[in-house]
Amino acid sequence: MEELRNRRVKLAPSILSADFARLGDQVSQLEKAGADRIHVDVMDGHFVPNISFGAAIVQSIRPITSLPLEIHLMISDPNFFLEQFLEAGGDSFLVHWEGNNNLYRTIRKIKELEKPVGVVINPATPAAVSEEILPEVNLVLVMTINPGFGGQRFLEMTLPKIRQMRQMIAQVNPNCELELDGGIDPTTAPMGVAAGADVLVVGSAIFDHADGLAVGMKSLQQAINQAGTS
Ligand code: DX5
Ligand code: ZN
Repeated sequence: MEELRNRRVKLAPSILSADFARLGDQVSQLEKAGADRIHVDVMDGHFVPNISFGAAIVQSIRPITSLPLEIHLMISDPNFFLEQFLEAGGDSFLVHWEGNNNLYRTIRKIKELEKPVGVVINPATPAAVSEEILPEVNLVLVMTINPGFGGQRFLEMTLPKIRQMRQMIAQVNPNCELELDGGIDPTTAPMGVAAGADVLVVGSAIFDHADGLAVGMKSLQQAINQAGTS
């Protein structure tokens, strides 16, 4: 557990689970509670079977927080929308390997916009698909659920892949972050961290916590810290 003790794990609350009537207030609460970045899930009803929100939401929360806004694009044509999200105030972009025949072009385009870029892989997608582009990216996001909805159960079948990805990153691009998204709660967070995660996206475990967002954040931070010192 030595490795765990020395690593500070970052939390990225996902506003997909927010109460949109109180979005600004909730984002401020998360910043106060120690969130490291805000994760923004964009869905087009085509790439995934759900529709969420577009760049207007990014524009609305931009003046509310100084936290980085991380844009997770679950849309069919990410290339067409990058500028829009950039102008709205997006700070970094996460794009899927799946369904993108020209992923390297998308990655180059984001780099030309001078923003950090991450590649995302779904649960059934092998780690190896990211091998060639690993030197080019700032982050790899391993989906620990099938994308489209919050509140799903963490898929433990992804753990060996997370460990494998951690090794690939250590060998090829040690500055690259390893992020997990989906089903993260105080039970699954330590599993993901032990497998090698640096950043955890968390939706329902924070926003649906019975005692509020700050307590939800604290429970996760405690679970991660306890696992690191046991
Ligand atoms: C789902 C999204 C996730 C989602 C996670 O496609 O990418 O970011 O908000 O929500 P929870 O933490 O509830 O699984
Ligand atoms: Zn996400």
